[in-house]
Amino acid sequence: MSATIRAALAGILAVSAAACSADSGVTEGSAIEVVSGSSAPVPGSDPASAPSPATTDDTSGPTLPGTTLPTPPASTAPETGPSDTDPPVEPEPPETAPAGTGPATSDGPTGTGTIPAPGPGSDPDGLGDALYPELGNPGIDVQDYHVRLSWDRATEELTGSVTLTIVLLDDRDEITLDSAGPDVDAVTVDGSPAEFVEEDVELRITPDAGFAAGDEVEVVVEYHESSPASYASSGVLGAGWFNSEGGSYVLNEPDGARTWLPSNDHPADKATWTFEITVPSRVTAVANGELVSTSPGPKGDTWVWRQDEPMATYLIQLLTGDYELIEGTGPDGLPLLSAVLRSDTDVMQVYIDTIPEQMDFLDDFFGPFPLDHYGLAMTDSFPGLAMETQGRSLFSRDDFSSGTLGYVEQLLLSHELAHQWFGNAVTLGRWQDIWLNEGFATYGEWLWLDHVGLADLDAQAQSALMGRQTSSRSPAAPSADDLFGFETYQGGATVLHALRGTVGDDLFFEILRRWAADHDGTSRVTEDFVKLAEEVAGRDLTRLFDDWLHAVRPPTSYPTRD
Ligand code: TRP
Ligand code: ZN
Repeated sequence: MSATIRAALAGILAVSAAACSADSGVTEGSAIEVVSGSSAPVPGSDPASAPSPATTDDTSGPTLPGTTLPTPPASTAPETGPSDTDPPVEPEPPETAPAGTGPATSDGPTGTGTIPAPGPGSDPDGLGDALYPELGNPGIDVQDYHVRLSWDRATEELTGSVTLTIVLLDDRDEITLDSAGPDVDAVTVDGSPAEFVEEDVELRITPDAGFAAGDEVEVVVEYHESSPASYASSGVLGAGWFNSEGGSYVLNEPDGARTWLPSNDHPADKATWTFEITVPSRVTAVANGELVSTSPGPKGDTWVWRQDEPMATYLIQLLTGDYELIEGTGPDGLPLLSAVLRSDTDVMQVYIDTIPEQMDFLDDFFGPFPLDHYGLAMTDSFPGLAMETQGRSLFSRDDFSSGTLGYVEQLLLSHELAHQWFGNAVTLGRWQDIWLNEGFATYGEWLWLDHVGLADLDAQAQSALMGRQTSSRSPAAPSADDLFGFETYQGGATVLHALRGTVGDDLFFEILRRWAADHDGTSRVTEDFVKLAEEVAGRDLTRLFDDWLHAVRPPTSYPTRD
C-alpha cells in the first residue's frame, strides 16, 4: 500500500498532492484555477509556500502514518495541549474539559445538543471554542438558513442574500454573525432595516429595538462578493470558495463558510437549509439535500435545494458546473442522488453502484443510515480531496479516474460514508473534539478495507498504534493547525480499537450505534461519548480514556478481554 494513499485522509496527502500537481501540471480536463485572493495559498497552487511547519516539514515527502510521523515542533503546541516532550504525559481526568474551554456541558441552543460555553477571556463575539475562539456567535440559535445566491463563473461575481431564522437565547442589544469576505449591502431584522457594522470577521447587527430572550427573528443579509477565494486553513487543507474549470465548489471545514456566507459558523449550531442558486443556463448548481425545483429566469436558471435535516455550516456542499445528476436507490429504499461531470458519467458509475453495498455493510455496525438521502459528488479539484459534505460526499474526480475500486477509492468512499453517521448525524461540539469525526470515520474505513480484503483490521490498528509511539500529541488535544493529522484520524481510531478490546465487540458496536442514534441531529463533545460508553458498558472507563485518548503515548499493545 502506498504511503501517499495511507496519508490521504490525514491531510498529509493534500501536501503531496499539491506537490504532484505543481510538478506535473494539471491532468486533462481537470484544471483547477486557483483564485488567489488576499489570503494564504491553496492546495494545488504553491506547495513551497504552504503554511504549517507541523505538516509540511516532512521533507521526505509523503509519509505513512505509523512509520515516519511528522513531528510538530514544540512551538506549535497550544497552551491547552499536553507537553510535547516527555511522554507519557500525565493524562487529564476525562471528566474535566481541557483547560480554557469552559464547561463543556452547558445547555446549548434548543435541539442542538451540547454546546461549548465561553471560557474566561475568550472572544466576546465567539462561542469559546478553544481552537477557533472567534467562530460562532453568542446568544443565537439559527433554526434555518435560506441562501439565495447568483454566481457567474465568467465574472466571478457572487451576489445574493441569506435569510436566517434565529431564536434568541438571551436579552441583547446586538447580534453578530461570522462574516469574513462578503460585502454586506443591507440588513433587515423582521423586515425593518437594521444598522450594521462589518468588522474583520464579524458582522455586527444592532436594530433599534434590541433582542429579547426567546424571540424568533428573521434576519436578512444582502451581500455581494467579487472573486470569492480559497485560502489555506487548518494546516495545509484549503477552505473557502474554489473556481474550477467550468464552475466552482466550496470547502468549509473548519472555518470556510464565513468567507462566502454570513452565518453562525460553528458546528455547535446546526440548522435546516434552503439553497436557491442562480447560474447561467446550461450550468448545474448542486447543494445539499433534495432538488426541489429548477426554473429559468432573466439571470439564468435557479436551482433550489432543500436540506431538511439539521446540518452544520462546515458540511455545506455548493457546486456549479456541467454536472449530471444521477438517481439511484440504496438499502431500504433510501434515495440516492449523485453529481458527476457530464464527461465522467460512465467512469463514475462503478463508484455510485458500490454505495448500497457499503451502506449495507456499515449499517450492521453503526445502525441504520442516519440521513434521508445520500450520494457522491465528483468535482474537478485537487487530488486527495475528500469531504463528507452532508448527504452527498465530495471527492476529486482525479482520484476516481481509473474506473476501478482500488485501495484509494475504497478508502475515500468508505471514510466519507462513515462520516454521515459520525460527524454529520452526530456532530462535533467543539473543534478540539475532531477525533469524534475523524477517528470514527477512520474506524469505518478500517472495517470496510478489511471486509473487501484490502487491509487487515488488526494490521491497520497495529500500524496506527506504532505511529502513536512516536507522535507528540494525543487524539484529544489537536492544535488548530493539526485538526486533520495522524493523531485525530489513525490516533482517534486507536482509541476506538482499544475500547473495543476492553468492552468486547457487542458492547463496542452497541456504543457506536447508540452514539449515532441517541445524538442524531445534535452536536456533542468528547465527555458525552465517554459518558455514553460507560453507560452502555456499565462500568467506569476512566483509565481506558486516560491511557488511550488523553495520553500522548498509549500503551504498546491493545487491551484484550481474554
Ligand atoms: N473532513 C475531511 C475528511 O473526510 C478532511 C478535510 C477537512 C478536508 N478539511 C478539508 C478535505 C478540506 C479537503 C479539503 O477527512
Ligand atoms: Zn474524515
